[in-house]
Amino acid sequence: MAVSGYPPIMQESLRMLEQTRAFRATQIMPRMTLAEREELLREWHPDYREESNREVKIGPNKGQRLANRLVDLLETRGIVDPAKVNLDRVDYDVDILVAGAGGAGVTASLIAHENGAKVLLATKLRIGDANTIMAEGGIAAATRPEDSPEKHFLDTYGGGRFSNKVDVISALVNDAPLIVEWLRDLGCMFDVQPNGDLMMTFAGGHQIRRTHSCKDLSGMEFMRVLRDEFVNQQIDLIEFSPVVELLLDDQGRCAGALLLNLDTNELLVVKAKAVILATGGMGRLHPSNFPTTNHYGATADGLVVAYRAGANLLHMDSVQFHPTGTFWPPQSLGLLITETMRAWGAHMVNKNGDRFIHELETRDTEAASLIREVQGRGNGIPTPDNTYGIWLDTPMINILTGIPDKVATHFAGIVHRFNLYGIDVNAEPILIYPTQHYQNGGVEIDPDGCTAIEGLYAAGEVSGGVQGRNRLGSNSMTDIFVFGQRSARHAVDYIKKAATGAPSLRHVDAYNKQLEEMNLRSDISSPLLFPDYMRKEVRARSVGR
Ligand code: FUM
Repeated sequence: MAVSGYPPIMQESLRMLEQTRAFRATQIMPRMTLAEREELLREWHPDYREESNREVKIGPNKGQRLANRLVDLLETRGIVDPAKVNLDRVDYDVDILVAGAGGAGVTASLIAHENGAKVLLATKLRIGDANTIMAEGGIAAATRPEDSPEKHFLDTYGGGRFSNKVDVISALVNDAPLIVEWLRDLGCMFDVQPNGDLMMTFAGGHQIRRTHSCKDLSGMEFMRVLRDEFVNQQIDLIEFSPVVELLLDDQGRCAGALLLNLDTNELLVVKAKAVILATGGMGRLHPSNFPTTNHYGATADGLVVAYRAGANLLHMDSVQFHPTGTFWPPQSLGLLITETMRAWGAHMVNKNGDRFIHELETRDTEAASLIREVQGRGNGIPTPDNTYGIWLDTPMINILTGIPDKVATHFAGIVHRFNLYGIDVNAEPILIYPTQHYQNGGVEIDPDGCTAIEGLYAAGEVSGGVQGRNRLGSNSMTDIFVFGQRSARHAVDYIKKAATGAPSLRHVDAYNKQLEEMNLRSDISSPLLFPDYMRKEVRARSVGR
């Protein structure tokens, strides 16, 4: 027998898992009813814990419950003191500023540029250094003859617990097939069948195969072609310069933004007739104390600046926990194990070798059932750290597909990651537990990416309304491209007529005044820009604190 990469304490459950494989190979798991799903979520999903959300006391969503960690950033002052900013010295004067250089931001830049706008793309890190590049599974689109945007709509709406904005989902599903074509035209190498047709797989909650993948490195491939095109088009780019405040004119229209040059600590004034926010999500705030699949830059920056400027948020009490986060080895805690492994046949198995849920329920349901299996039923697999996870039986993929090296070839990225720690996931399962993956909500948008503020657009994870209270797998890649394109097209039309006035920070002054009046004080300022992982003891020893 091959050497196991797992510690002795896990060996007993590994034996059980092997013993049940023959039975599980033909086992058919029942699907849950809507009522069962709702009950499970209420009891076990982290969103329903009292401590996950709290009422925000200021701003457009005043009185509503939002993610606790986000409220910390909304109920505090900005990084910038408006009195110390000279807005007469404009560093960049452009038609459209795009903030954030993941898939949504680069897409928006390309489309706005193609349509004749003078574009500046500004980003906190480097171009492509964002969640898109970490996407594994693929992009959802109804491209097969037996599929349709209507079927895609119904799955997305049901998955979102019927809370998504219907006109926004319509835009998503109708544009999705065009996006796949666009990516192929840019040179994206999707997985294909032996006859050359696109290969598609399932994702949880989709009733039909519509995930188009590039192995388990889909986002890397998408970003590769986008970045190439961006460079070819010679669009202006500033890296290491996040947006730290929006600028509004005297009519409340968006008139640009302040960037912080992270190298020099200088503020840069960007005058723009429209701003497209594509700054991603808030995973690195670690909602409900979970680890995250997210990129280091996912600190809710766009939400914070848009909120202070008066844009309302939608569904920000709803966080997506991906059921299959890495749980062992601890060095990889929280990293994504793509859902497409389950679509290809990997089973979720408890310490007794038993499955406990159909593997392609929606993510909220999968995550809640996994937490129940460990915390409620005591069926977790013990680790040497006194924690408990669940097996994702990856070798089942080879057994069920009849392809002995399916895991090794299709999931090369994950195989590589585990090889680093001596675990061969072609032959052994992966220990998993839910991990924070996505903010379901965000700045409310309409089908063209317009927010409540004229001239301000949002695209991708920073936006709200598309996914409702639970995003389906592979719909985020669809989202970034569809609304990256749509917001850019609308913005190009808007700037032709926009009579944007002089930029100001008066809204920030007004927000600060309200904070004072309400006695809301805090020792942090926002946006956070980077997660603070410094332990309290270390911080206490830091110079200047
Ligand atoms: O499981 C995954 O591959 C994740 C995909 C997604 O979030 O859409």
